[in-house]
Amino acid sequence: MPVLIDIASLAVCRMDGGQAALHAIPDAALAWSGGTIRWAGPAADLPAEYAGEERQSAGGRLVVPGLVDCHTHLAFGGWRADEFEQRIQGASYLDIARKGGGIASTMRHTRAASEEALAERATGFLDAMRALGVTTVEAKSGYGLTVEDELKTLRVYRRLAETQPTRIVPTLLGAHIVPPEFREDRAGYLRLLTDTIIPQAADGLARFCDVFVEDTAYSADEARTIFAAAARHGLRAKLHADQLTDTGGGALAAEVGAASADHLECISDAGIAAMAEAGVVAVSLPLATLYLNVDPLPARKLIEAGVPVAVATDFNPGSAPSFHLPLAMMLACTLQRMTPAEALKGATIVAARAIGMEDEVGSLEPGKRADFAVIDAPDVNHWLYHFRPNACVRTVIFGETVWSA
Ligand code: NIG
Ligand code: FE
Repeated sequence: MPVLIDIASLAVCRMDGGQAALHAIPDAALAWSGGTIRWAGPAADLPAEYAGEERQSAGGRLVVPGLVDCHTHLAFGGWRADEFEQRIQGASYLDIARKGGGIASTMRHTRAASEEALAERATGFLDAMRALGVTTVEAKSGYGLTVEDELKTLRVYRRLAETQPTRIVPTLLGAHIVPPEFREDRAGYLRLLTDTIIPQAADGLARFCDVFVEDTAYSADEARTIFAAAARHGLRAKLHADQLTDTGGGALAAEVGAASADHLECISDAGIAAMAEAGVVAVSLPLATLYLNVDPLPARKLIEAGVPVAVATDFNPGSAPSFHLPLAMMLACTLQRMTPAEALKGATIVAARAIGMEDEVGSLEPGKRADFAVIDAPDVNHWLYHFRPNACVRTVIFGETVWSA
């Protein structure tokens, strides 16, 4: 039973106590066996039964729960660097979308890619994410938008879950945009989604059903129809909500009992109140906010209203072409005015709640999985303040070291 000692600060990240409460333990020790945490506390209090066990040193560093990236579009074909330049020169994300670029462009590349090619590429992304301390990743479909291509993407995620140490939580985003071939027949695509794609995705391939509610994507009423079908098949709702305009997405998330509403740059006060009342997690995506050069979501208002705020990357080839979760956490501090402690809780236990995993991952408590990262910093403030390409020196998943510097 390994015991990790020489921990300058152990950020426990229990859910209770509000967004800023890390329940950090200075001069700590952490013991695990069989992939499960057995004990966490001040090193001076380590129980006698651990006295003879193998010791490992954290080198006087910070130890945090394995980071949880609760919103990614992990498997996609191609890139869109041309649009990056166009947006810098003044084109808007919605203009590009209306001209057939954006999500539709990635859809064409994803349809053309084989399952093997998508899996191989996503494997490389997961490798690099583990080096940053990321141990759990939610992954959405949404660039296939045919029965076969949505299921192909979800099969890629099943394959990654079987072959990679990273925990994968798959989400069906069949309602990302209306695919171009259904432009004159939205109702036809909705039927395909509710009657064929959702039932097949729910048969062991996806855990959540996400809808992009926006002018260029789906209306609130269409989303209600989609979520009703998803619920019949046991898929819980998630939303891309209030990203570019206020479409009442926060209130809709509350109405349908969604696990999370994500983006929320344009959420109204009424939406915030509804989310607080219903216990919906807000997922902030500061990389997308930065890349699209829009105002950030009102994180302070959300937190003050009692809405837990997660922090994720939104990794995708358009609005957030980076999987660097610690960078997103630093941006949550600088753009969204969250403290480093709030950002860390947002990328651990709150993120775990957003994907229904809070009983298994997201905090360093006995009984939970031994997923953690050793960060070369004395504490959380220092880590996110002195930003470096990678401050993570060791990543452990289920008790096994999966990366070390
Ligand atoms: O989360 N908002 C919609 N979907 C993605 C963007 C996907 C893309 O641009 O390819 C997002 O930002
Ligand atoms: Fe997204």
